[in-house]
Amino acid sequence: MIRNYQDLVILLARGINQRRMYFEDHPRVIICAQEFCTGLNRLQNQDGKGKFFIGVVDGKLIHEGKYLIGPTIIGSHLNKFAQLLGCGGFLFNKGVTPGEIRTFFTFAMSQKSKLGTLEESRKLLRSKNLSTIELSPPYEDAGWFGEFLFEKRDNGQKRSQQDQKIDELMSTFQNLYSSVETAHDAGHSGQCLDLDQTRSTSEELIKATRGQVPDIMQLVKYPDYDTYTVGHSVRVAMFAVLVGKHLNLDKGLLNELGVAAMLHDVGKSRIPADILFKPSRLDERERAVMEGHPTLGAEMLLENPDASDLAIAVAWGHHRRFDLQGYPKMPWGSAESQLTHIINVCDVFEALTAIRPYKKSHTPRRAFEIMFSDSGWFCPMALSSFCSAVGMYPPGSAVKLTDGHQALVVAPSEVFDRPLIKLTHDPNQRSLPQEAQVEVNLATHSIGVKIKELILTD
Ligand SMILES: [Fe+2]
Ligand SMILES: [Fe+2]
Repeated sequence: MIRNYQDLVILLARGINQRRMYFEDHPRVIICAQEFCTGLNRLQNQDGKGKFFIGVVDGKLIHEGKYLIGPTIIGSHLNKFAQLLGCGGFLFNKGVTPGEIRTFFTFAMSQKSKLGTLEESRKLLRSKNLSTIELSPPYEDAGWFGEFLFEKRDNGQKRSQQDQKIDELMSTFQNLYSSVETAHDAGHSGQCLDLDQTRSTSEELIKATRGQVPDIMQLVKYPDYDTYTVGHSVRVAMFAVLVGKHLNLDKGLLNELGVAAMLHDVGKSRIPADILFKPSRLDERERAVMEGHPTLGAEMLLENPDASDLAIAVAWGHHRRFDLQGYPKMPWGSAESQLTHIINVCDVFEALTAIRPYKKSHTPRRAFEIMFSDSGWFCPMALSSFCSAVGMYPPGSAVKLTDGHQALVVAPSEVFDRPLIKLTHDPNQRSLPQEAQVEVNLATHSIGVKIKELILTD
């Protein structure tokens, strides 16, 4: 469901990614193109605008002067396409058709070399009969698009350290998304999973978590409405790596834990889309099909000689409860892996706290209440490791303090609901200067300031 222009950019990026896996007339590609045109038409009718412009500046996707973090993470191919064409963005005029959008997808995924000039790129676009789509000049030559003039986010201003760190992490997250998405697309089209790629992305994720956890958590909370199976797996992997580090797992095992988390739901790629993405409650038959995804995932991994035992165990057992309920049914006396228990916890916590198109998310506090209220659900050791590693307020959460200041959670502390924070805004909501953005451990802070509430951002 397209709610805004950000969703539309995500859909465009998703369409190019799909076209890389499937032919132009494949239902997945057709649906992406149709949804894009229907969504664009509806949004344009709502706000009376006849044109939709996506800017590409310094490898980032921009709409109406705003840097779109989520779309940039999944839109690396759209970005690369703009670079090859030497343009600063794409303008979609009213009336663009699904057929043209599919041609655009094909053009984007098949263009491999850089074109000489922007005029050459425009000529090529016209030769493909894409008259409703225009290319803007690069940002440096901006001026051509009049009402669509956009500014670099750092134009004339000192960029915050936070922004710089997020930039540094962007390619890691692009790779993470692309890895999980490729695995799901391979599963859907019956191809073999490329575990080497997944392993190297997991290694990259582990390296990126060194000292940058709040920045990463800021990135992973960005919603990705039409690819939420992929986004969910990326976020579960992030939580799993946090817990694995907290438990001091050795490097090799930590890497395999990241891979297992990234692929835990890969069996969903073999569930029919009308069930997987059904917005309403599943009936009994549909639920039975859906509950087949752990077995399907384990089978897919078993077909691959490179798959680790852990990845297979996690794909198969991540919906098993500690009290042996859940699914699939397990043979009596089977051994269970402790690391599967950890991924069970990460999986449920992510599902409860993430933004989804058809449900409201819970706050971490509410998620923990739900998870603790059912004593047979999780392995107590796994749940307590998760709590210690993540805390009541996961790193990266924006919070309001009882004295009115706002802060960013940096890390959990020895007290569950009193993490280490970094002050960001004064009680009048003014951004604090860099030197005043100090870190405070609320567990040992003598003035007794506490967290009042979580600041929920979309
Ligand atoms: Fe699952
Ligand atoms: Fe899951």
